Amino acid sequence: MTPELRALFPITQRAVYLNHAAISPPPTTTIEAVEAQLRDVHENGSLNYLDWLEVKRRTRESLAQLLNARPEQVAFMRNTSDALSTVANGLKWKTGDNIVTFRREFPSNIYPWLRLRDALGVEVRACEERDGKVDLQQLESMVDANTRLIAISHVQFGSGFRADLERLGRLARRHDALLVVDTIQSLGVVPIDVEAELVDVAAGAGHKWLLTPEGVGYLYLSDRARERVEPTLVGWTSVPNPEDYVGIAQPWNRGTLAWETGTGPAAFFYGLRASLNLLQEYGPARIATYLEELTDHLCERVLSKSYEIVSSREPGEKSQIVCIRHQRRFSVTALYGQLKAKNIITAPRGDRLRIAPHLYNTLEEIDQFVDALP
Ligand SMILES: Cc1ncc(COP(=O)(O)O)c(C=O)c1O
Repeated sequence: MTPELRALFPITQRAVYLNHAAISPPPTTTIEAVEAQLRDVHENGSLNYLDWLEVKRRTRESLAQLLNARPEQVAFMRNTSDALSTVANGLKWKTGDNIVTFRREFPSNIYPWLRLRDALGVEVRACEERDGKVDLQQLESMVDANTRLIAISHVQFGSGFRADLERLGRLARRHDALLVVDTIQSLGVVPIDVEAELVDVAAGAGHKWLLTPEGVGYLYLSDRARERVEPTLVGWTSVPNPEDYVGIAQPWNRGTLAWETGTGPAAFFYGLRASLNLLQEYGPARIATYLEELTDHLCERVLSKSYEIVSSREPGEKSQIVCIRHQRRFSVTALYGQLKAKNIITAPRGDRLRIAPHLYNTLEEIDQFVDALP
């Protein structure tokens, strides 16, 4: 990637930052876009309100494009957890229903389902991790006629394992269940096509791979999901003419837009749009190829030291997230701390060290990381 691109990330002058699976530093263009909206409201109050709505509309279009969805199928949310809870609470559950998931999903993709178990007696079935992978065979064997949804991350936060969504989509359709995907660890840097891969729900947020400040999430619902998920959290912007304050006999907005309840973070929509423009300039396929090059190099070099690679590096399963473990189980927090002292930022996750580069990182930085490993 070019020096001009790298210059948009001033963190590169301070650190080798390899923690994008947690929080990403937004590029300068994104910070400027956020500042521009804040300055506008600071100086002009509501005068340019329609411009903010227009930016929100275009941001939604870009997000939909990234997913290969229609704009009205994508609603803005606060975060991934809100989006998944929306689905959990909007479905009509009956005794005997079950949900199939993976035991090591991030809690955003666990608690909404456990609440249904506790409140309504819905059964939650969870497959295990095997050799750093989601045991898809075990997961498949858990799905039956009473399965209402399969909930899985596209890319796992704790291993980097990338799930074959189309395979799971077909499985879900065979059982008339929904495929619910947490896409926070993939959207923007791993190509996804919700239509072709039969994804019914995609939920995520902008502060990781989408390079946006914390505070903007999204929910995509396929048409068949929208038929099943009722809007249970609504407000003045859930209807087609929100500014007709007395015309309250309106239907809900089309598609997923019924879920947008009220005023959102206008400045962050400006920021998200700037980041999406940057990501689209390169394109998720090209970014994925580049990150594969970086992570392949990392894995190759790490093996020459006393580390094992926990992540699957098989084609179709590998991703831009790599987790490693010291062979003699050197404490991962100590490892993290030693690297941090050298301004190399990774993440300790359980017994693993997680390394997650983004498009502005370089092979030299990967070498610096490996050289710094004790
Ligand atoms: C897979 C996954 N889902 C969700 C989240 C975050 O959830 P939320 O957007 O609700 O904060 C994370 C990261 O922190 C994650 O790794």
